[in-house]
Amino acid sequence: MDMAWKITQLLLLASVTAVWGALPRTQQGRTDLLNVCMDAKHHKAKPSPEDKLHGQCSPWKKNACCSVSTSQEAHKDVSYLYRFNWDHCGPMKPACKRHFIQDTCLYECSPNLGPWIQEVNQSWRKERILNVPLCKEDCESWWEDCRTSYTCKSNWHKGWNWTSGSNECPVKAACHRFDFYFPTPAALCNEIWSHSFKVSNYSRGSGRCIQMWFDPAQGNPNEEVARFYAEAMNGAEL
Ligand SMILES: *[C@@H]1O[C@H](CO)[C@@H](O)[C@H](O)[C@H]1NC(C)=O
Ligand SMILES: *[C@@H]1O[C@H](CO)[C@@H](O)[C@H](O)[C@H]1NC(C)=O
Ligand SMILES: *[C@@H]1O[C@H](CO)[C@@H](O)[C@H](O)[C@H]1NC(C)=O
Repeated sequence: MDMAWKITQLLLLASVTAVWGALPRTQQGRTDLLNVCMDAKHHKAKPSPEDKLHGQCSPWKKNACCSVSTSQEAHKDVSYLYRFNWDHCGPMKPACKRHFIQDTCLYECSPNLGPWIQEVNQSWRKERILNVPLCKEDCESWWEDCRTSYTCKSNWHKGWNWTSGSNECPVKAACHRFDFYFPTPAALCNEIWSHSFKVSNYSRGSGRCIQMWFDPAQGNPNEEVARFYAEAMNGAEL
């Protein structure tokens, strides 16, 4: 092969790499959207196996962005993770709380949320997730199991009174049943964490939506989902 041509190719490769490196995450090459951890409060830098992941976080043990201690804390009330009190309007029912634990496990442990990671300018994290397509059944059962528990707000990211060290309802926000603040499953899943989720029209097992719950014996179904959306996003930009 002609030497000058080879050098031209190398320079071209170098300049393409430099341009990609400067672009925001969603515009980078596909591989960067797959098997990644967000740059947030407790995430590991990279996903890796964690044999001892606790309880409801154990489905991610083959490949996880969370540490064992994060997985343990995810099951506690007012854990050190966020000092967040689920029982801000009296005890949350256990059938409801397990969905919040699972949501925490997905958020902290999943290495398959890359296509929905966005940069943010927040004191406590540099990246967040936005519009993750949550499978509709996962959203519906979350809402069904929580509708008879109580809360005082529809966006749980903002507006709490944190003076006691954990979140308390602000004076003007009254406690009502979940279905007062969240009249539909979509209202719950989309609004509660400022559009981190966007409930999908796709069903569990479709390969087109993210499952909060899965049986690890069949592998992690969200790997395929992330690949599908990463390819779609790359395709849209080419
Ligand atoms: C991000 O936050 C910093 C410090 O709070 C601020 O100076 C900067 O203007 C913010 N940038 C954007 C894009 O909001
Ligand atoms: C916040 O909560 C504290 C008690 O923990 C209370 O004294 C204070 O009035 C509350 N402030 C607001 C704005 O709700
Ligand atoms: C959602 O799925 C249903 C049934 O598969 C279909 O009839 C409906 O048009 C879909 N809605 C959207 C917004 O895609």
